[in-house]
Amino acid sequence: MTMARDTTLRKAHRTGVGALDAKGPAVVGLEDVAVRFRSKRRDVTALSDVTLDVAMGEFVAIVGPSGCGKSTLLKLVAGLLKPSAGQVRLGGETVNGPRHDIGYVFQRAALLEWRSARRNILIQAEMRRLPGDRARARADELIEMTGLSGFEDAYPHELSGGMQQRVALCRALLHEPPVLLMDEPFGALDALTREQMNMELNRIWRETGTTVLLVTHSISEAVYLADRVVVMSPRPGTITEVIDVGLPAERDYTETLGRPEFREATGHIRDLLGAASAHD
Ligand SMILES: Nc1ncnc2c1ncn2[C@@H]1O[C@H](COP(=O)(O)OP(=O)(O)O)[C@@H](O)[C@H]1O
Ligand SMILES: [Mg+2]
Repeated sequence: MTMARDTTLRKAHRTGVGALDAKGPAVVGLEDVAVRFRSKRRDVTALSDVTLDVAMGEFVAIVGPSGCGKSTLLKLVAGLLKPSAGQVRLGGETVNGPRHDIGYVFQRAALLEWRSARRNILIQAEMRRLPGDRARARADELIEMTGLSGFEDAYPHELSGGMQQRVALCRALLHEPPVLLMDEPFGALDALTREQMNMELNRIWRETGTTVLLVTHSISEAVYLADRVVVMSPRPGTITEVIDVGLPAERDYTETLGRPEFREATGHIRDLLGAASAHD
């Protein structure tokens, strides 16, 4: 029963507990990383002593007070910033410059107003000069997967905030990146849309098997979605604790929020962040 075994394996590495053991080498690795921003007027240490390994297929959420270096951490993985000390690895290689094997989603969808949803998604293929047929087929799959069917030809101003974020997600996934970086992707959405996007992201993550690093201000979003939650201290950002959520990969929203593991993890993270801001 290969199928059954595969499923067990997938589940095993997605429980978060012992994720690296079950899955072998890390797809993202940060080792003793520090980032300092120096200018004539200021010298800011954004990150200090950050060591983190993320296993293939794992979902890691990052929470922490504003200005603690969360966006900086994602930019390091993407190769948009160089560490002042330490090493960043992606797919086994040291990151030395901008990487193409990632997808990036930001708080603002940043769609081109004069392009339809589908053509906004396909811009990723144009920029990367991917074969058109394959890209169009993949765009159609993603449109279906994210529930955008029927809105392919709509322009951004005809789409709700949630739909615009779905288009941004499709654009980020078009080239099938092994690693998806999300920087407060649902921060601008209303609470109900946000919940719905959380449920959809859980399903999309399971369906695509992509590794996700999600920065969020919402503790419940972090715990609902992630295998592990990285809690960061105020600037200079260091990792205070990494919490294994210990929930199954497939998560019904209401049921998950009522589970003791969920309440335990959210309570613990709230305490850690509360303690951090008390010392701020
Ligand atoms: N390019 C930059 N130049 C100078 N300082 C920066 C730059 N980018 C970020 N910072 C500073 O580094 C710290 C961390 O920023 P950031 O990673 O954006 O925090 P977060 O995403 O956790 O809110 C902040 O104090 C910010 O002002
Ligand atoms: Mg940020």
